[in-house]
Amino acid sequence: MKAIVYEKYGSPDVIQLKDVEKPAPKDNEVLIKIHAASVNAYDWHFLTADIFLIRLMGGGLLKPKYTRLGADVAGRVEAVGGNVKQFQPGDEVFGDIGHGGFAEYGCAPESRLALKPANLSFEEAAAVPMAALTALQGLRDEGQIHPGQKVLINGASGGVGTFAVQIAKSFGAEVTAVCSPRNLDQARSIGADHIIDYTKENFTQNGQQYDLILAANGYHSLSAYKRALTPKGIYVMAGGSTAQIFQAMLLASWMSETGGKKMGGVSAKIDQKDLGLIKELLEAGKVVPVIDRRYPLSETAEALRYLGEGHARGKIVITLEDINKT
Ligand SMILES: NC(=O)c1ccc[n+]([C@@H]2O[C@H](COP(=O)([O-])OP(=O)(O)OC[C@H]3O[C@@H](n4cnc5c(N)ncnc54)[C@H](OP(=O)(O)O)[C@@H]3O)[C@@H](O)[C@H]2O)c1
Repeated sequence: MKAIVYEKYGSPDVIQLKDVEKPAPKDNEVLIKIHAASVNAYDWHFLTADIFLIRLMGGGLLKPKYTRLGADVAGRVEAVGGNVKQFQPGDEVFGDIGHGGFAEYGCAPESRLALKPANLSFEEAAAVPMAALTALQGLRDEGQIHPGQKVLINGASGGVGTFAVQIAKSFGAEVTAVCSPRNLDQARSIGADHIIDYTKENFTQNGQQYDLILAANGYHSLSAYKRALTPKGIYVMAGGSTAQIFQAMLLASWMSETGGKKMGGVSAKIDQKDLGLIKELLEAGKVVPVIDRRYPLSETAEALRYLGEGHARGKIVITLEDINKT
C-alpha cells in the first residue's frame, strides 16, 4: 500500500510517498481502509522535532522512532482482531490512530475509534478527532466551563480554535473569538458572540476580563493572560513554542491562587466517550468542521508546509479518494 514515510527529523522535504506492507490488525485492533486523514500540529512536531520534548517523550532522541505520520483518520473497517467487540467489517469509523494515518490502511485499538457521524463525509469526519478533543477537554475538564460564562478563545480560526468556539457555545457560554482580520467572518459564522482582531486590539490590555481563556498557542505572557481573568477565572493553554511550554510547566501552578485565578494547560487524551460526545454534537449540527484546504496523499508535504505557516483557517485534510478508486 502507499504511505507517507520519514526517516529523519526535518522539514516536509524529508517525507516520501512509499510502497510499504499493508498492516495486519492485532487481537485488539481494527484495520481501517482510510478514506481521509487530517493534518495536526502534532504531525508537524513529530516531523520537525521543533519542540525538543518530542525527542525526550518517546519520539526518538536522534531520529524518529515512529517513521509514519498521521493521527486523525476516517474510513471503513476492513478487518478486526479476535478481541474486537465494537466494530465489524464495513463500519464507517473516525478517530485518532496516533501514527500512520497518512496511508491507504491503518490499524488502531478499537478504543481510539468511534462510528463516523452519519451526516458527515469522510473528509469532514477526519478533520475532527484531535482538535475537537483538545477543545472539549480544555474547556470542560481544565476550564470547568459553565453556561453564561464569558469565554475567550485566542487563536479562534485554526483547528483547535474553530472547534473551541463552537463547543463553548454548545455549553451555553458567551464567546469572544480572537483572530486576524481575514478570519472575522469565519468566526462570526461559527457562532462567536464577540470578535477581536488581534492586529488592532490587545485583549489583555483593554480592561475586559473573562471567566475562561483557552489559547490555541501561547501568543501572550502568562501574566498578561492572568490580568485578563476574572477573580476566579481559568487560563488553559493548548500549545506553544518550547519556551512557552516550559514557562507554563514551571510557572503556571506557582501563579495560580488558592480559591482564585488558575493557570494551566490541556493535554488531550483519546477518549472514546468524548469522541462519542463530539459525534452527538456533530450529528445535532451544534458543531460543524471547518475545512480550509484538501490535498491528495501525494501532496502531503504541501499540506504540512501550509500547516507550518501557522495560519490555517480551520483544518487541512488529506484525501485518499484517487488512490481508493484504483
Ligand atoms: N495540548 C494538546 O493536547 C494539543 C492537542 C492538539 C493541538 N495542540 C496544540 O494547539 C496548538 C494549536 O493547534 P491548531 O491545530 O489550532 O493550530 P493551527 O490550526 O495551525 O491554528 C493556529 C491558529 O493560530 C492563529 N494565530 C496565529 N498567530 C496568532 C496570534 N498572534 N494571536 C491569535 N491567533 C493567532 C492563526 O489564525 P490567524 O491566521 O487568524 O492568525 C491560526 O488559525 C498547536 O500548538 C498544537 O500543538 C495541543
